[in-house]
Amino acid sequence: MVIQKFFMALSGSFLILFLIAHLAGNLEIFSGPDAMNTYAAFLRTVPKALWILRILTIVAFVTHIGLSINLSLKNKAARPTPYALNRPQKASMASRTMLWSGLLFLSFLLFHLAHLTWGWVNPEYAELLDSKGRHDVYTMVVMGFREPTLSAFYIAAQFFLFMHISHGFSSAAQTLSFTRTEYAEWIRRLGIVFAATVCLLYASIPLGVLFGYVTIP
Ligand code: HEM
Repeated sequence: MVIQKFFMALSGSFLILFLIAHLAGNLEIFSGPDAMNTYAAFLRTVPKALWILRILTIVAFVTHIGLSINLSLKNKAARPTPYALNRPQKASMASRTMLWSGLLFLSFLLFHLAHLTWGWVNPEYAELLDSKGRHDVYTMVVMGFREPTLSAFYIAAQFFLFMHISHGFSSAAQTLSFTRTEYAEWIRRLGIVFAATVCLLYASIPLGVLFGYVTIP
């Protein structure tokens, strides 16, 4: 169990690093089409590094999801009769819903890949080129988020992500032994602030488009 939790924490930490890097790239949208398309085109000039990162991310996802299902099944098996009153006193809402918030976020992620990576959702925007002949990722994203339902879905997904990482952050810190008990409360608060910042910044992208702050020049 302990080794499984260790690998969950390790893979989760890697996924958090991915989230930060991906967010930094996506925030280029606020600097305009050239900045965002330059960033996207740059990634394609380093295909080996990109594929190494992709493979590490996939391994981290598979490890994280596989272990979470395994641990949750083991926990259930260890307690075959459910508590008469399923009202845990101390566990937060976020900690009790880790499996569900994770699975809901995973369904968003699959949709997101179909939308912006595989171009299945709006195929009409997936092949666009900018004036420099590069893949016009900026226009693809802006045109997509002009659709309120799609934007609402992305914003809702940030809520599940928040639930998941606000608790995951302190869980991982505890497993990887960064927390002595006297710091646990601070790490918990840090996790909430970190998760809120990341999720609000992600949500700012569809909101920026919907409110006309990010436009097509
Ligand atoms: C408003 C929020 C987001 C926007 C605007 C956004 C934008 C994008 C874009 C434009 C791509 C395609 C990049 C390209 O092909 O050049 C992409 C790919 C991807 N996104 Fe997001 N993303 C968002 C949120 C997220 C979140 C929360 C995650 C969570 C893990 C995520 C994970 C991924 C992954 C795994 C890929 C595939 C990367 C690859 O092909 O190597 N994205 N995203």
